[in-house]
Amino acid sequence: MNLKLFIDQAICSALTQAGAAEAPAVIKNSQRPEFGHYQANGVMGAAKRLGLNPRVLAGTIIEALDFPAAAKVEIAGPGFINIHLSAEFIAASLTELRQYSQLGVQSRVAETIVIDYSAPNLAKEMHIGHLRSTSIGDAAARSLEFQGHHVIRANHVGDWGAQFGSLLAYMDQLDTSGVALGSELKDLERFYMAASRLFKSDPEFAHRAREYVVRLQSGNPRCRALWQLFITESVKHCQAVYDKLNISLTPADIKAESDYNADLPVVVDELTSQGLITVSNGAKCVFLDEFTGKDGNPLPAMVQKSDGGYPYMASDIAAVRYRSQTLKTDRALYFVDARQRLHLSQLFSVAKQAGYITDTQDFRHLPFGVILKEDGKPFKTRDGADVKLIEVIDEAIARAFELVSTKNPELDAEQRHEIARVVGVGAIKYAELSKNRLTDYVFDWDTMLSFEGNTAPYLQYAYTRIRSVFRRADIDPSTLSGDILIQEPLEMQLGLKLLQFSETVDAVTEDYQANILCNYLFELAGLFMSFYEACPILKAAPEVTTSRLLIADLTAQVIQQGLDLLGIDTVEQM
Ligand code: ARG
Repeated sequence: MNLKLFIDQAICSALTQAGAAEAPAVIKNSQRPEFGHYQANGVMGAAKRLGLNPRVLAGTIIEALDFPAAAKVEIAGPGFINIHLSAEFIAASLTELRQYSQLGVQSRVAETIVIDYSAPNLAKEMHIGHLRSTSIGDAAARSLEFQGHHVIRANHVGDWGAQFGSLLAYMDQLDTSGVALGSELKDLERFYMAASRLFKSDPEFAHRAREYVVRLQSGNPRCRALWQLFITESVKHCQAVYDKLNISLTPADIKAESDYNADLPVVVDELTSQGLITVSNGAKCVFLDEFTGKDGNPLPAMVQKSDGGYPYMASDIAAVRYRSQTLKTDRALYFVDARQRLHLSQLFSVAKQAGYITDTQDFRHLPFGVILKEDGKPFKTRDGADVKLIEVIDEAIARAFELVSTKNPELDAEQRHEIARVVGVGAIKYAELSKNRLTDYVFDWDTMLSFEGNTAPYLQYAYTRIRSVFRRADIDPSTLSGDILIQEPLEMQLGLKLLQFSETVDAVTEDYQANILCNYLFELAGLFMSFYEACPILKAAPEVTTSRLLIADLTAQVIQQGLDLLGIDTVEQM
């Protein structure tokens, strides 16, 4: 049950009864967990529209309100309504929560939702910048799936275009000189660097590289075979990163740029027959009034270059067409760097003009900022190269291993390695997800690996604390039966927080801000720690012990489920 919605509905129907039938839409509850109550803050707006005194309207609403779940409803300030839920209601709802699947998160009317995320360029290795789209998109996929939607993960990898020219020319050269390609390809980054160095320094090689692009695009079998070899290696590398990072993408989720090649001429034909194409300097472009450059001149969206080749925009239009017409998606979410804002808004506008996106379909760009070094500069190695993502993950795990070994030296090495993997990976992903998606953030090892503060290790540790209560008492929580009792203020606060898991997940998928869930889990764990200190669990009267064990177990379940929606694992001990 979404508690916020439940209260909202009660207030809205009271408002209707109070004679303000057209007003309910402005009623919103702002949740104030620090007071343990909800606040309706839309009464003032409604009163204004109706020409009434807000406190008077609030009084009328309270009189009309039929809401047994509340212990107290009062007018506050200029016309807010505060709703204090009763301890009985909270206790009964918590007891019920244990029977519900999914900890109260209700299934929605299932929509088909395409999530375009990760999408690295396969010419190079994944770098630290890919952490953003990959973790944020994966958390969105998991959360929407948890709500019952039909999620289609779309990894729109870049596997086509000019950069493959030098790679193929270089591969061919190595191959004919008897160098084993397989082992050379092990370090994709070095391979790419060597090829592009040659491209810059050797005009003859550069010329050949350009020819390879043409040969690849015209389907030359040898070029195709070399290209396939390279792509296979690169996909293997990406999958290794995903597996290590606990990202739910599989090779089957890849729908690469080149997969749309056959559709590209069709798209250009369709755009042409709709009269959308203008030829500008030999290139086929779509000009839309809404896009102009700094000089006021219209900005083109190019769909075919003057040499006949197709740019990034073309395969993206084909992808929209496929997602809309073949996948029949209701929504498509593009988790792509904010720097591609113009590209994506042109894409969606062109696709709407062409009728590829209909009025009922929601195609949306969910942008994000960049990752910065501690000095506020972009994250690069000393020689200006990108920092490999796999190395960042390995470093996180190594650092976590040090920490775990200091904290708990008596655990055997194998166990410490497993904990380090879960903690290290959790730390970097959580650092990513707990920030506002839109802002740039500074990557800081010490903060993200700290066991205090809003971090993955803190939450993972809170989880193990709860599990250790059960271990020490030798109780399997699934065998517990009895009712939850709410007596202490901290039980009330913690209980209310647990009931808010459902509305939190709903809030996350409203604007795909995973930090809402992170903040929630952080507050939940904090409340648990306070509860744990103030309310003895095992030393209380038997029915109180049972109730507190049930509350503790629900907390562990919510932390574990919440972290799982973020793509973060837990361990039983650390
Ligand atoms: N491969 C692109 C890049 O590395 C990102 C693709 C994002 N998705 C899309 N449909 N354009 O910049």
